[in-house]
Amino acid sequence: MIALLLLSLLAEPYSEERARAVLESMRKDARRHMSVDPEDGRYFYRLTVELKAKRVLEIGTSAGYSGGWFAMALKKTGGRLITIEIDPERHAAALKNFAAMGVSDVVEARLANALTEAARIEGPFDIVLIDAWKPDYLRYYELVLPKVRRGGAILAHNTRNAAFTLRPFLERIQNDPAVRTEFLDESPQGLSVSWKK
Ligand SMILES: C[S@@+](CC[C@H](N)C(=O)[O-])C[C@H]1O[C@@H](n2cnc3c(N)ncnc32)[C@H](O)[C@@H]1O
Repeated sequence: MIALLLLSLLAEPYSEERARAVLESMRKDARRHMSVDPEDGRYFYRLTVELKAKRVLEIGTSAGYSGGWFAMALKKTGGRLITIEIDPERHAAALKNFAAMGVSDVVEARLANALTEAARIEGPFDIVLIDAWKPDYLRYYELVLPKVRRGGAILAHNTRNAAFTLRPFLERIQNDPAVRTEFLDESPQGLSVSWKK
């Protein structure tokens, strides 16, 4: 107990500069970890701060690159991220990366199947990012829509490079009267932003 107290007193205070350096170092494994691009990450950060988001849900953690961007912004807003990953190795890598960034205190990383886990989690959320197996996007959308607050946003990654597989989902988000959908121009792989009315 005393040792833990001493360790926490010796621990370096959180620094966003250091967190950003860890995110940068994660780019070398971006392809292997199927991460979003820095353009998307910067948007997640901006959006989280602008919405003063307190609760963010991510479906598909991988090694924590996108989650790291949310977490850095949530450090500012006083919010928290729940992120779900089905693969134990990627989940473990994410835990390490969140710790290295100094953001573990605002992240709840769950090792679970998001199809069942997301159904169990109670809203409301300010932001949800869908970035898991592409054929499941429509199911995730229907699952999370009731859990997002009015004025909140459902984001989905790979809307450009996986447009064919995502067709039923893309049709739904562009025709659902419950949301207004736009696409982030600067996202290399494509990012939809559906604002809940
Ligand atoms: C594209 S990667 C996520 C990348 C991450 N968002 C980032 O930018 O760093 C998709 C991840 O979703 C995970 N995944 C796929 N199906 C899942 C499910 N049913 N439940 C939880 N995670 C799932 C995969 O194991 C993979 O790590």
